[in-house]
Amino acid sequence: MFDTLQAAAADAILGLIAEYRDDPRKDKIDLGVGVYRTEQGDTPVLDVVKRAEQHLIDTQDSKAYIGTAGAADFNAAMQALTFGESSPDERLVTIQTPGGSGSLRVAAGMILRATPDAAVWVSEPTWANHAPLLGDAGLTLKPYPYYDTDKHVIRMDEMLAALRTAPAGDIVLLHGCCHNPSGLDPSEDDWRAIADVIVERKLVPFIDAAYLGFAKDLDSDAFAIRHMAGLVPEMIVSTSCSKNFGLYRDRVGTLSLLSPDSATRDIVGSQANNLVRSIYSVPPDHGAAVVSLILNDAELRADWVAELTEMRERLQGMRSLLNDALRAVAPKHDFSHLVRATGMFCFLGVSASQVATLKKDFGVYMVDSSRINVAGITPDNVNYLANAIASTLESE
Ligand code: LMR
Repeated sequence: MFDTLQAAAADAILGLIAEYRDDPRKDKIDLGVGVYRTEQGDTPVLDVVKRAEQHLIDTQDSKAYIGTAGAADFNAAMQALTFGESSPDERLVTIQTPGGSGSLRVAAGMILRATPDAAVWVSEPTWANHAPLLGDAGLTLKPYPYYDTDKHVIRMDEMLAALRTAPAGDIVLLHGCCHNPSGLDPSEDDWRAIADVIVERKLVPFIDAAYLGFAKDLDSDAFAIRHMAGLVPEMIVSTSCSKNFGLYRDRVGTLSLLSPDSATRDIVGSQANNLVRSIYSVPPDHGAAVVSLILNDAELRADWVAELTEMRERLQGMRSLLNDALRAVAPKHDFSHLVRATGMFCFLGVSASQVATLKKDFGVYMVDSSRINVAGITPDNVNYLANAIASTLESE
């Protein structure tokens, strides 16, 4: 049976983990996969997570199944975190999912059950796994313009014009904040304009919010979600706790489905649970139990917000540091878009062959598109990095 298969290509992002690990050079720099790193280059377990895990170990008395939707206390806390004080709870169902990717996969299944002919509009460019994940599930994807790779700005007018051509019922996948890969988000006014087109064209917003807390703060980063929830009858929201709780490998996320009324909400909830049973049966518990403990305890929650703030500020600081270092060694080139972006990512803005040179000659790893994860920058490696970029730019 397996003789029929050819080897699959390495994943554009995760493939870099092994490549980087196997590179023996001491001064190599990993700007690839999106994980947070400290100034020392580590991705430690958050202190609040350690404390919550200890409490869990001391008090958890069963590992019996909870159910397809996961834990109710986790779901309620995450729904409140995402939708805020004016959350339309009576129209919302939120289920625990295996990370943001699990959430996206269940969302794809829900779209296929409800409106199999609807297309999902995705930003050009978008996270490298959106197309495989949603497309493999069977959805039709269509691109809308998003990022101008020359000017390093959002192509807002073209984006709105493209969405105005979408037929009613189509779905618009949006990045809630910290757009992956560009790091550039619509302003609040832009979000209002996007929401107006969505309402006018009777489209369904599908917001992927994998980086809440990494752009400005938890509430500001949820602006698009909360604004649209107040306007549209139906919406899909995927969240992830991989980055903001540092729970990458524990697989924690949510899927929220907004319906026009509570009777429809109950039907939608039953379908979502039925679908989950047919894919992975029940979500993993540990990480979600940790998040629930943190969000439902005032002290742990405050300490988590402090740790999240520290991560966000370090990322922003590294953007400025690299921009300053590049200004000094490559003054003819403008890298100011580095500091206009937020979150982990942005494009460096170099060609694919320059990306290859950076890897081959300097051990600097990034995605082929020149997306960099700024968490890989430290005060110790920034000059080496800036010099590597400058000499690569000069050599072509
Ligand atoms: C990334 O974009 O690097 C992260 O979201 C990790 C992943 O799964 O691709």
